[in-house]
Amino acid sequence: MRLTISGIKADVGSIGGHTEPTIEMLDKVKSNVAEAISSGLIIDGFVFHVGDDIAIVMTHTKGKDNEEIHQFAWDSFLDATAIAQQFGLYGAGQDLLVDAPSGNVRGAGPGVAEIEFEHDPQKGNDTRPAESFNVFAADKCGPGAYNLPIFLGFADPMYCGGLMLPKMIKGFKFRIIDMNNTDGDSIIELNAPEDYYKLTVLLRDNERFGIERISSRTYEDQDSVAISAQRLHNIAGTYTGKDDPIAIVRNQGIFPAPEELVSPFAKAHYIGGDARGSHVMPLMPVPINTPVTGIYCLPIVECLGFSVNAEGKFSDHHVDFFDNPAWDLTRMKAQEKAMHMRDQGWSGPAMLPYTELEYSGFRNIVEGLEAQFEISD
Ligand code: 13P
Ligand code: MG
Ligand code: MG
Repeated sequence: MRLTISGIKADVGSIGGHTEPTIEMLDKVKSNVAEAISSGLIIDGFVFHVGDDIAIVMTHTKGKDNEEIHQFAWDSFLDATAIAQQFGLYGAGQDLLVDAPSGNVRGAGPGVAEIEFEHDPQKGNDTRPAESFNVFAADKCGPGAYNLPIFLGFADPMYCGGLMLPKMIKGFKFRIIDMNNTDGDSIIELNAPEDYYKLTVLLRDNERFGIERISSRTYEDQDSVAISAQRLHNIAGTYTGKDDPIAIVRNQGIFPAPEELVSPFAKAHYIGGDARGSHVMPLMPVPINTPVTGIYCLPIVECLGFSVNAEGKFSDHHVDFFDNPAWDLTRMKAQEKAMHMRDQGWSGPAMLPYTELEYSGFRNIVEGLEAQFEISD
C-alpha cells in the first residue's frame, strides 16, 4: 500500500502562561483521533504535547497535503481552542492564523511534516523489511532548530557510522527551503557528501534556511526526513509565537539508526527561540509531554519512536528516546549553557539580531527611538 505518515502540530492554548495544554484539550483531540480511526479516515494516530503545542501523528493512505486529513487536524485544534477559550487559557487558538484553511493547513499556522512511501514490510523486502520512524517535536524554537543535528545525522560519519556502509555510502539528497521567500516554497536540492560545505553555508542560518526533506540517493522514492520549516511571522506579518518545528524521520536499514540520529542532540546547541522568541539559548532534549516551566524558557525537543505493521498500525506503545538517564547529563549541560548565555542578559549574541526581532514589539520601540536621533554638529 501507499502509506503516508503525517505529523501536524499547533499551539492553541496553555495553562498558567505558555506551559502546556490542559488534559481536557488533549483528551478531546485523542477522542477525535479515535473516531477518525473507527470511521476509516486514518489507520492509526497518536496525540502528545511538547510544551504548549499539541501534536497529532497519523498513518493513512490519502497522501501528502490531503484536504480531509488536514481539515481533520484543523477541526481538532479548533475543538481544543474552544476548551482553551472556555477556561481563559493563555494563547487560545494562537497558531490558527486564518479563519479557515484552504484545503491545506500548511501556511495557515500549524506545523506540518509528511512522508509518503510504498509500504510492504516483510522479510523478502530488501529495502524496508520493517518500518520504524522517529518524531521530533520542539517548543520555544526557531524554524531551523533541527538544521545542525539532522544534518550531522545524515551527512557526517562522526555521528552516523552507518554512512560508511553500502546502503548509505552514496549519501543523501537534501531539500533546503528559503523561508524568507514568501512567494511560495523556494527550494534548492543539494547532495551530501559532494555539497557538504554548501549545505553548511546555508544551514548555519537557522532563521532563514531550513531542511525541508531528506531522501536516499541509493533507493528511489525513499524519503527519510520531512520537517515543518516555516516562519510564523511570515504568515502572520507580526510575531505570534515561535515556529516550533515537527519532524518525521524514518530510521534503520537504508537510513540512519535512532542512536545515530539522536546523538547530535547531545550538543544542546544554541538556537533562536526561548522567552518571547527573542533569545539565543540551548536546545534541551526532554521526555514527551514536558511542560515549559524551567528557569528561563528553554527551547525543548522531544523524540518518539514508532513501528508500523503491514496494515499501517502502530505497536501497542511508543518509545520515548529522551526519557533515559543518559540524557540527564545533556539536560544539565543545556541548563549550564543557558546560564552562561543569560549571564549577559540582552547583550550581543544573547539575543537574536534585530532582523529577527523586527516582527515583534521591539520594532516599535526601536523605530520610535530612531526617529529621535539627530545629527550633532
Ligand atoms: P510559543 O510559540 O510556544 O507560544 O512561545 C512563544 C514565546 O514567545 C515564548 O516566550
Ligand atoms: Mg504559546
Ligand atoms: Mg509553542
